[in-house]
Order: sequence, then C-alpha cells, then structure tokens
Amino acid sequence: MADRRLELDYKPHLPPKTDYGIGIVGCGGIINDASLPAYGKRKLNVVGCYDLDRAKAESSARKFNIPKVYGALNDLLADPAVEIVEIAVHPWQQFEVARQAIAAGKHLLCQKPLSDSFAQAVETVRLARAAGVKLAVNQQMRWDPAMRAVYDLFDKGWLGQPTEASIQVSLGFELEGSWGAASPRFEVMLHSIHYLDSFRFLFGEPEWVTSRHTRSPLLENFRGETKTVTVLDYASGLQALSAVNLANPSFDPFVTFRFSGTEGAAHGTIGLLSYPQGAPDTLAWHSTKLYAGTRFEVKLEGAWFPDAFIGPVASLMQAIQEDGTPQTDGADHLKTLGIVEAAYVSAAENRSLQPSEVG
Ligand SMILES: NC(=O)c1ccc[n+]([C@@H]2O[C@H](COP(=O)([O-])OP(=O)(O)OC[C@H]3O[C@@H](n4cnc5c(N)ncnc54)[C@H](O)[C@@H]3O)[C@@H](O)[C@H]2O)c1
Repeated sequence: MADRRLELDYKPHLPPKTDYGIGIVGCGGIINDASLPAYGKRKLNVVGCYDLDRAKAESSARKFNIPKVYGALNDLLADPAVEIVEIAVHPWQQFEVARQAIAAGKHLLCQKPLSDSFAQAVETVRLARAAGVKLAVNQQMRWDPAMRAVYDLFDKGWLGQPTEASIQVSLGFELEGSWGAASPRFEVMLHSIHYLDSFRFLFGEPEWVTSRHTRSPLLENFRGETKTVTVLDYASGLQALSAVNLANPSFDPFVTFRFSGTEGAAHGTIGLLSYPQGAPDTLAWHSTKLYAGTRFEVKLEGAWFPDAFIGPVASLMQAIQEDGTPQTDGADHLKTLGIVEAAYVSAAENRSLQPSEVG
C-alpha cells in the first residue's frame, strides 16, 4: 500500500466561490500567454477586457471568448459585473490604473512588480487599504508545482532545518524587441523577483542582501542588467542564491534548483525553457527521516506557466469571501520589492545591506 506520508500537497486550492467577475486591463503577452489560458482551464468568469490598443483587447476577447470589450477604463470600472480588476500593464503604467480601480471600489490583482518606484508601490498599498479593497500581486511562482512541493517537504519536516538554497537559470530567451529593454533596471526587477519572492515564501525574511549585476554583450540594446547573482543571508545561517543569465546562446540552457536541510535535500528543474509555453517541473528528494537512503522522484502535474497563475487569483478570491488577506497581498509584496531595491543598492555600492535600509 502506498505510504501517504510521501504524498505532497502542491496543487493550487480553489476557494468555494470562484465566479467573481474579472475585468482585465492590458491585453498583452502575459495575459494571452498565461493568465487567460490558466483561467480558461478553471472556467473563471472573465467578464470583459480593455487595452489602450483596442485591437489587442478584441483579439484576446475572440481567442478566449470574453463577452465584452470596453472602449475606456472608466467603462470597465463602472461595470458592476467587474468585481476584480486584473492589471497587466508595464510597471510604470500600473499605479494610475490601480489608483482609479481602487477609487471605483474594485479588488485588484496587479502584476509584479507593483511599481518600479518603491514609493509608488507603498502608496498603492496604502490607497487599497484605506479604501478597504483587497490587492494581490501576481507572484505566481509561489504556486509553481516544484516550489509548492518543496514548501510542503520543509513544512512536513522531511528536510529538517534549511541550510542551502539555490535557483540557477541560464537561458537564451528571445528578448529582442522586448519592452523591458528600455528599463534601466531589468533582470532583478522583472525576472529574479520571482526567485527572491520564492525564497521569502519558503524561508521568510533574510537579514542581508548581496547582489552583483552585469550585462551581456549579446543584449547590448538593453539598458539594464541581464545577468545577476543575488545572495540572501538568513539569521539561521541559511544562504539562498539566485543566479540568472538571460543571454545563454549555447545548447545547454538550464533552470535548476537545490534546497538542502539538516535532514534531507530536494533538487530538480523548473519547466521554463520553452517560455512562454511551460513544461512540467522535475523534483527528486530524500530524507534521513523517511526510508533513509531512498531517492524519491516526483511526477509533478501542472507547470509554472500557465497553471501557477491560478494561485494568486484563487488566493485573492478566498480573501474576498473570508475577509482575509491574499497570500501575495500588497503589504507582503512590499517586502519582496524591498529585497529587489536592496539588490540594486548592493550592486551599485558594492556592499551588502539589510532590506530595512531601503524598505
Ligand atoms: N507574472 C509573471 O510571470 C509575468 C511574466 C511576464 C510579464 N509580467 C508582467 O506583466 C506586465 C505586462 O507585461 P507584458 O509582457 O504582458 O506586456 P505587453 O507589452 O505585452 O502588454 C502590455 C499591454 O498593456 C497595454 N496598456 C498599457 N497601458 C495601458 C493602460 N493604461 N490601459 C490599458 N492598457 C494598457 C498595452 O497596450 C499592451 O497591450 C508587466 O508588468 C510584466 O512585468 C509578469
């Protein structure tokens, strides 16, 4: 008989009520590649969409059977059928949309980063709190199957106390023409933010942040950094490493993770190589506390893209119905953004610092 202690709780949990009306603002890459495919699988209730470029909104509506295309943001915000506004515009465009959605009394699902300006992110969170609306941020890597499974392994005690964590990424993403090329802060702000948030999800708040940034000659037109190494030091002695290169032209791209503890270890790969098409993660683990010496290989269902995208919206819906707090709520996200800001100060000033210095 199968040993139930080997079962891992890693799939997103949906709350009892999932038919909240969702109105989408910004119908670009991430909405079409990930959010709408994930919502379609779970039959969520997307009532309408809006984009400054109407053709984009119409295209998404056709592709995903969205009943309404709004001609203006105000029309979307005035529609009582819209209970959650999902914003997927660039970080520097998000505040103005969020501000208006909050004023209209809507709950919000915002994209990461909430803003490229920390002060503006703080103000967005303040406005949402003052208006009594829920604000969640799409830090969906927390629902990546492997990250959830590793969380469960630590939570159940099979790995013991965390001692080592690393996420290492070396990819040849198709980045030519990316809107992010114009951003003076690129890789950590827009990409590693997921890994840093996952470390917070797994281990809580680090004491120290150290980060080094460079730019690949292969991505000359990028203003910001494209290759980074960031280390989070924890009071317990745990060190968590995020090492990312977005310009690997070779035939051996990889996205790997390793988490060790005093009683075991877990390692594997994240299915990101064919982004935005996801692939299953892989995970192997062992524990000195359970069949010591045995290596378990887990066949994980679902993928970071698009399946994990159900996590933040489901958590937001749960918070709305229980009057609780979404797992990736705005105040929580400010702590991830604090680490991101600290990473930039660290790189610019060649030093380590505590997140509290910037946040
Ligand atoms: N969570 C993730 O894993 C993930 C992955 C990729 C991108 N993102 C985030 O998603 C956001 C969007 O990225 P993208 O790649 O989809 O960008 P994109 O350029 O493909 O799409 C953005 C869309 O927003 C529209 N837009 C801009 N301002 C608007 C406004 N005021 N009102 C209505 N529409 C407006 C644009 O016309 C465009 O269609 C970014 O903040 C990015 O960081 C998140």
